[in-house]
Amino acid sequence: MHTIDTISHLRDYLWQAKLEHKVIAFVPTMGNLHEGHLQLIDRALEEADLVVASIFVNPLQFGPREDFNGYPRTFMADQEKLMSRGCHVLFTPTVDEMYPDTKISSTIVKVPHLDHLLCGATRPGHFTGVATVVSKLFGIVQPDVAIFGLKDFQQFLVIQQMTSDLCLPVRIIGAAIARAENGLALSSRNGYLSTSELQQAAQLQASLVAARLALESGNADMQTIEEEAQQALEGAGFRRDYFTICRQQDLQPATKEDKQLAIVAAAYLGGARLIDNIRFTLP
Ligand code: PAJ
Repeated sequence: MHTIDTISHLRDYLWQAKLEHKVIAFVPTMGNLHEGHLQLIDRALEEADLVVASIFVNPLQFGPREDFNGYPRTFMADQEKLMSRGCHVLFTPTVDEMYPDTKISSTIVKVPHLDHLLCGATRPGHFTGVATVVSKLFGIVQPDVAIFGLKDFQQFLVIQQMTSDLCLPVRIIGAAIARAENGLALSSRNGYLSTSELQQAAQLQASLVAARLALESGNADMQTIEEEAQQALEGAGFRRDYFTICRQQDLQPATKEDKQLAIVAAAYLGGARLIDNIRFTLP
């Protein structure tokens, strides 16, 4: 595996692959890699001749009171994991390389109808930071296909919308959520949890499954289902953020007529803010 930290070196390296018409797959990450990230690499290897991963903790997507400085940086271990999984190229730019001079981007990419909802309401500016860095990374790597995890379902929809609206020639693939044995979605932020909190955290997925079962059994009182889920989460030691039954395609609140649903949730536990979701179609 080649590890490259400048845009010009990466372009030089990828030029040959493009000349040979190799299919390039791209997996952007912020590092502290776990099995969920590595399954995106597996998927990328199925799709392409050459797999490029990136590790970049993007300051633009963190709010002023968020964990940018404390975000776990485990470069050596990450490099090892990517190498053993068969990744071909790792791009690890510095903040200066991605945002020269100002440390911020003067051009931003905003996806207005999705970026203020749900996580966007709690984390203003977050999705603009994500869309901006991903469009820069797409411009640098120029992949044929890019893989994103469905764990961050709102992020996945933002990227899909941005790619379509800007006519970027990248196919976006969503990969299934990788979970721990107790159902907890794997996340770099799970490292903020104690051993007992890791057990409690399984309740987040359990609450999504319970809400899905209620809907599938014909209960159409969505507000009550949402409120009961929030109360169950509080009972398990969480603090509320949101728990919402919405339309899968645009994350608008679902009505009784909607069949393609997503239940999306975020909640605080100990020092972590956890997110999860479940997507399904009602008969
Ligand atoms: P990060 O949180 O490192 O996640 C990188 C990719 O891994 C994302 O596509 C995310 O959805 C996926 N992922 C994380 N946990 C997963 C799990 N349990 N199962 C499946 N996929 C999982 O998301 C980001 O970084 C950043 O916002 C980024 C897109 C890199 C832009 O900075």
